[in-house]
Amino acid sequence: MTWLITGGAGYIGGHVVRAMREAGLRVAVLDDLSTGDAERLPADVPLVEGSTLDRAAVDRALREHAVTGVLHVAAKKQVGESVEQPFRYYRENLQGLQTVLEAAADAGVRRFLFSSSAAVYGMPDVDLVTEATPCAPMSPYGETKLAGEWLVKAAGAAYGISTVALRYFNVAGAASPELSDGGAFNLVPMAFERLTAGAAPRVFGDDYPTPDGTCIRDYIHVSDVASAHVAAAERLAADPAGETSLVLNIGRGEGVSVREVLAVVGRVTGYDLAPEVTARRPGDPARVVASADLIRKELGWTARHGVAEMVASAWEGWCLRHPEARRRG
Ligand code: WQD
Repeated sequence: MTWLITGGAGYIGGHVVRAMREAGLRVAVLDDLSTGDAERLPADVPLVEGSTLDRAAVDRALREHAVTGVLHVAAKKQVGESVEQPFRYYRENLQGLQTVLEAAADAGVRRFLFSSSAAVYGMPDVDLVTEATPCAPMSPYGETKLAGEWLVKAAGAAYGISTVALRYFNVAGAASPELSDGGAFNLVPMAFERLTAGAAPRVFGDDYPTPDGTCIRDYIHVSDVASAHVAAAERLAADPAGETSLVLNIGRGEGVSVREVLAVVGRVTGYDLAPEVTARRPGDPARVVASADLIRKELGWTARHGVAEMVASAWEGWCLRHPEARRRG
């Protein structure tokens, strides 16, 4: 079978492409290269350059590569931007999904994986977030991911498509420097960006009800995220009857505070600038940590890499893109 990976030239998609191929699976990529980079793709992976909103491009990708399963990773993913541009997020994330899903259903594709997010939970008030924890997204971004899960489930039931939605927690790191995240929109790259500019990394609030007062998250290495996709794809491939309908957290089940992450950043980079505490960032929950029990039970998958590996590999990627960063380290 051949898997179409939408968003395969992106940070997470690029890792999924690599992991799928290492598992011996055949892949093709649909990407509009708006934030993706064709350089992330091995030369022999076919790329259809086009938007998930362009039905003709999606049809072409499905037909030309005789696709039998879809991993729909393409999406806009910045929470703050989604608050400012809700139309764009609903269009790209939901209409884009619907276009791909409808085209897949019409083409007889019966296996579909959807990239979802811990953002569907909003501000959970539990120690470990299970897939049964109520969803209450707090941004248009999170809303598009939750509504996307509903659409995927409904289409699966209506058309006999096996589906998996994977709820990513805080993704970090890189399998190799050139696959790293080019943006600086999350804690680890934002800390690198500050250090490179000679400034102290910032802690957005240290008065949360947590042991060190800073927010706790479940950081997951992007290579582990990618291997979860492989496990899910194999599970979908093994179900010809279209009976699989799973929603699974991808996390490590281990909470790490902002201060703890920044301590690792200091060790890895060699910069010894003490973090600077600023005001809380609006909308940040104190603690979001996954229960990873269900994915272990359903797919036999567990994470392998810890925070030190995430930060060290992210730093290698950052230094590739910002060679001046290493001089001070
Ligand atoms: C992590 C922690 C910040 C930068 C977001 C989305 C989520 C998912 C992952 C896509 C928070 C703190 C950050 C800094 C800091 N995305 N922080 N100083 O907000 O947990 O999750 O990305 O699916 O849905 O909401 O990630 O990396 O922005 O922040 O103190 O310079 O680091 O306050 O506690 P977040 P993040």
